Amino acid sequence: MPDPLDTTPSAPTPAASAPAASAAPSTSKAFAPDVPFETPGYFLRGAANLDWGLKNRLARIFQPRSGRTVMLAFDHGYIMGPTTGLERIDLTIAPLIDAVDVLMCTRGILRTCIPPTCTKPVALRVSAGATILRELSREHIGVEIEDAIRLDAAAMAVQVYVGGEYEHATLANLTQTIDAGLRYGIPTLGVTAVGREMARDARYLGLACRVIAELGAHYVKTYYCEPDFEQVTAACPVPIVIAGGKKLPELDALKMCYKAVQQGAAGVDMGRNIFQAENPLAMVAAVNTVVHDLTPPADAYAAYQEACFEASKS
Ligand code: R5P
Repeated sequence: MPDPLDTTPSAPTPAASAPAASAAPSTSKAFAPDVPFETPGYFLRGAANLDWGLKNRLARIFQPRSGRTVMLAFDHGYIMGPTTGLERIDLTIAPLIDAVDVLMCTRGILRTCIPPTCTKPVALRVSAGATILRELSREHIGVEIEDAIRLDAAAMAVQVYVGGEYEHATLANLTQTIDAGLRYGIPTLGVTAVGREMARDARYLGLACRVIAELGAHYVKTYYCEPDFEQVTAACPVPIVIAGGKKLPELDALKMCYKAVQQGAAGVDMGRNIFQAENPLAMVAAVNTVVHDLTPPADAYAAYQEACFEASKS
């Protein structure tokens, strides 16, 4: 049985007249991670040929000065309910809004907990239909494009389970959203959701990110992995942002951000490692300086500790 993750093309049948040397199939990969991806006429990878509305929304998501973004993800409740740190979004997330580039949430939370005076771009979660109690990959599109427009979404986010039980349906959700968004100039964020049975390694994540980009997503969210994350970013022709995953010690989370951007990520879409931190506002500041200014994680962590110390005195 062929390995479904083996993406190495099978050897072509050599032409009868071709010299033997050129007929030999190449087995080496040529990711060229050190060669920058050209972005003529626009600052963002893969976006040079897009229309004005798409470019404008992407320029609200990614800071043109750095080409990167710090997105705050707090959409977890759509599958997990009131997870730690998100029990009262009106209390825990509202103070962080000004400090991040983008808010990622559901329409239910946007309408109930985020003041409409907020002018931050919103990456709106539009896939829905599953919870942690059942099969997670069994999703559909739960927000019509008209509602995304009504909410002034800067992007729409769709969960994609490559290799999952409902892979086909989640890929269809992605393409349906991309088509709807293209009609109105709203970019789509494809999210690589990794099923329990999948390894979070460069081979799997590289496949998932590339599939999502090939289907037309304007940027991709995935996980950082070691080794070879730079191959994941090199082979993806649109920007990649990383999720934070489960809560880590703050210094480790900052190191992960640093390594990810050094290896080609265009920022983070981070949740638990921010809102479950001892001091979420100080953590956002630390993540910002790592992502946008490439501050070494030890320095960012020192500033974080200082902020925690100052907060403890008040
Ligand atoms: C999961 O429900 C969402 O896709 C989250 O937005 C994503 O996992 C990022 O959050 P975290 O950094 O907590 O993993």
